[in-house]
Amino acid sequence: MIRRATLMDGKALSDLMRRIDRETKYMLYEPEERSMSTEQAEAFIERFGQAANSDIFVVDVDEQLVGYVLVVGGKPSRIRHRANLVIGLLDAYTGRGLGAGLLEAVDAFAVEAGLVRMELTVRKDNLRAIELYHKFGFNIEGTRIASLFIDGEYVDELAMSKIFTTEEI
Ligand SMILES: CC(C)(COP(=O)(O)OP(=O)(O)OC[C@H]1O[C@@H](n2cnc3c(N)ncnc32)[C@H](O)[C@@H]1OP(=O)(O)O)[C@@H](O)C(=O)NCCC(=O)NCCS
Repeated sequence: MIRRATLMDGKALSDLMRRIDRETKYMLYEPEERSMSTEQAEAFIERFGQAANSDIFVVDVDEQLVGYVLVVGGKPSRIRHRANLVIGLLDAYTGRGLGAGLLEAVDAFAVEAGLVRMELTVRKDNLRAIELYHKFGFNIEGTRIASLFIDGEYVDELAMSKIFTTEEI
């Protein structure tokens, strides 16, 4: 089931984020680099719930959290119309439409919140994620050369965005 995260998800969400960091090299953090206590995770969820342009959606399968998406809205007024997207699933649950489900929830939220621009960065070799983002209307804006340092090598990222308004920009 895909749903909005609640305060009850604090521990499960921080455990899930750490687990996904351990499983994949496509997220930002090295394994164990992300330190988030249950209390911090609850505060994190609360902060997202209070901001009109931010949200967290999670997927549970058999009552276990297996994926999440963060929509991180801008704080200063000049960037409140835009949000950054971060998505991750446990490896065993990839490739079965859950990522697409999370992005559908993000789309609905973006419209409800009046967001104009959604943006993200993705490793240039993360073809599965790039394909999914394309399917959801994201376009590549450019290459962020050597923007990550992973296993002793500099890796490029793509900057991608999606515009929600029908007005001419
Ligand atoms: C990237 C990620 C969120 C995608 O979610 P997912 O649930 O695996 O993807 P879905 O099953 O919803 O697939 C959606 C589309 O992506 C594409 N896709 C899925 N698997 C793919 C693969 N192995 N190669 C290329 N494209 C693929 C397909 O176009 C698919 O649509 P289709 O099923 O209609 O053909 C997920 O795999 C993940 O969390 N991976 C590890 C962490 C990560 O990379 N996060 C993103 C960091 S920017």
